[in-house]
Amino acid sequence: MPAVVASAPGRVNLIGEHTDYNGGLCLPVALPQRTTVTLAPRDDLTLRLTSAQEDQTWEGRVEDHPGGWAAYVAGVVQAMRDDGHAAPGLDASVDSEVPVGAGLSSSAALECAVATGVAALVDLDLADRRVRRGLAQACIRAENEYVGAPTGGMDQTVAMLAEPGHALLLDFADGSATPVELPLDGAGLVLLVIDTRVSHALTDGGYGNRRQECAEAAGALGVRSLRDASLSSLRSIADPVLRRRARHVVTENLRVLSAVGAIGDRSWEALAAVLDASHVSMRDDFEISCRELDLAVETARTAGALGARMTGGGFGGSAVALVPRQLSSAVQDSVLGAFRDAGLTQPACYVVTPGEAARLESGP
Ligand code: GLA
Repeated sequence: MPAVVASAPGRVNLIGEHTDYNGGLCLPVALPQRTTVTLAPRDDLTLRLTSAQEDQTWEGRVEDHPGGWAAYVAGVVQAMRDDGHAAPGLDASVDSEVPVGAGLSSSAALECAVATGVAALVDLDLADRRVRRGLAQACIRAENEYVGAPTGGMDQTVAMLAEPGHALLLDFADGSATPVELPLDGAGLVLLVIDTRVSHALTDGGYGNRRQECAEAAGALGVRSLRDASLSSLRSIADPVLRRRARHVVTENLRVLSAVGAIGDRSWEALAAVLDASHVSMRDDFEISCRELDLAVETARTAGALGARMTGGGFGGSAVALVPRQLSSAVQDSVLGAFRDAGLTQPACYVVTPGEAARLESGP
């Protein structure tokens, strides 16, 4: 069988952070930057993996548990086999435009590109949304069980289901995924992603710790997940730290709804205000921001962004800002200048438009 080529996007989350694993709401956008894989099926269960971004080739069996980036590929193949698909061994090569460690879900892009290519090899119908949802679930299991990162599912879901020109409203209580048109261009606005180049790793502990605290807060309230908690009920949480964590999650879900309403009304100032409020909540209540993210957000706002917030898992990574198109260069220059003045590594800035979900590029 000939090789297949498949690709999947990174993502930037517009709003709704650390809500996915709490049965909550989020509103991610697929990036134009993609990860592309070329997969040649083998007739044994060996994986031979190379990447344009990595020096090392990894070779082993599908059921081996490699470390590093190879785990994402092996994990997806194994998860699809666990689902009953006859996923073969592969000679795979990877090439990615999604910056690694920037909080822009390069790992989900790799997982979903592999899942999409393997789906084509085993003859699954990628036009069927249920198939895509199943692939997203396999990618989530690969990340949780094989890689060992306790992430929530937003990244893989948007990488498999995004539509160009739209954000995707995800509700982790009922599993729904609703495209939300994002006509920023017509409003003279752009989304600016600022990668602080402070690297975080989701397996590091900070993310897992927040997840654990959310579970404890839900336990203290006697609810299954924080999605079922009301703002007024949080007073009964005795531990002030757990109370703040829960307050972030409960108010963040409300902000996602406000953001969707504001987008529907084309009320960009209102959208910007909830982005700002989200950043404050992550900085003060959830405590996942850092000096570089705060500097990026504050500088972008001062230089003319309507609103800005850190995005993704936190502890480094990227910020996202809603910026009038004519101020985009000035905002970027100000951010670079502020980082230079503070003696920090220069961030990387990207103006992004909502991209397309994982797709087959060629074959079989
Ligand atoms: C990471 C995880 C997601 C989500 C975000 C925070 O990107 O992979 O599942 O929890 O952090 O919103």
